[in-house]
Amino acid sequence: MKKLSMLYEGKAKKIFDTDDKSYFWVEYKDDATAFNGLKKGTILNKGIINNKMSAMMFTYLQQNNVDTHFVEILNDREQIVKRLKMIPLEIVVRNIVAGSLAKRVGEDEGYKLTSPVLEFYFKNDDLGDPMVNETHAQAMGWATMEQLESMKQMALKVNELLTQVVAKAGIQLVDYKLEFGLSEGTVMLGDEISPDTCRFWDTETKEKLDKDRFRRDLGKVEEAYVEVYTRLKEVVENA
Ligand code: TMP
Repeated sequence: MKKLSMLYEGKAKKIFDTDDKSYFWVEYKDDATAFNGLKKGTILNKGIINNKMSAMMFTYLQQNNVDTHFVEILNDREQIVKRLKMIPLEIVVRNIVAGSLAKRVGEDEGYKLTSPVLEFYFKNDDLGDPMVNETHAQAMGWATMEQLESMKQMALKVNELLTQVVAKAGIQLVDYKLEFGLSEGTVMLGDEISPDTCRFWDTETKEKLDKDRFRRDLGKVEEAYVEVYTRLKEVVENA
């Protein structure tokens, strides 16, 4: 497959066309942003970690019968994915209260939820990705009820699979963000799974091993990304 012109540059990745219309060529960058792009920086080698970690986690999910866009990893920073027609929603799955949910419900970070929470956000930078519900998504034509149902079921399946595997690495999966798209009418998991899009806490010490280290200026950002990838690699490759 040939890498052709760049179609889109996002905050963390570049998407290129290929000579096969069924696929995109993705390049992961070291650029980091937070708070809808207000905070900008670089996390050294983040692109390498996120590319490898996403490839690993998507492969694991596929082996467990979750349909994803992942096709193959090419090198440190690049991978091939199926060309999806993205649904303009971010699905946040939460197991433990943190971040914006701590503010919304007035609870301390660390409170264990009795069941997973699913939240939908309309993916729109100009509006700051506002929270919406399923009736908004249906009425606005972003997704059908059937597609929303698939997304919810897939998100819960991903949650079971990821929570278990991450626990074996001594990590708690606090919350994370998923994005879905359509390939010939089938709902598939797209985007990435990485310390950029998940909150990972060390089970024992509760140390943060994710992008919150960048968002909150906690230091040792690069080290946390490497740590979480190294621990998960050990577990996933032996799963
Ligand atoms: P939140 O607590 O800020 O709402 O974030 C919930 C989870 O979603 C957290 O793991 C970080 C992830 N996330 C993204 O991946 N992209 C985003 O734009 C936001 C706001 C959150």
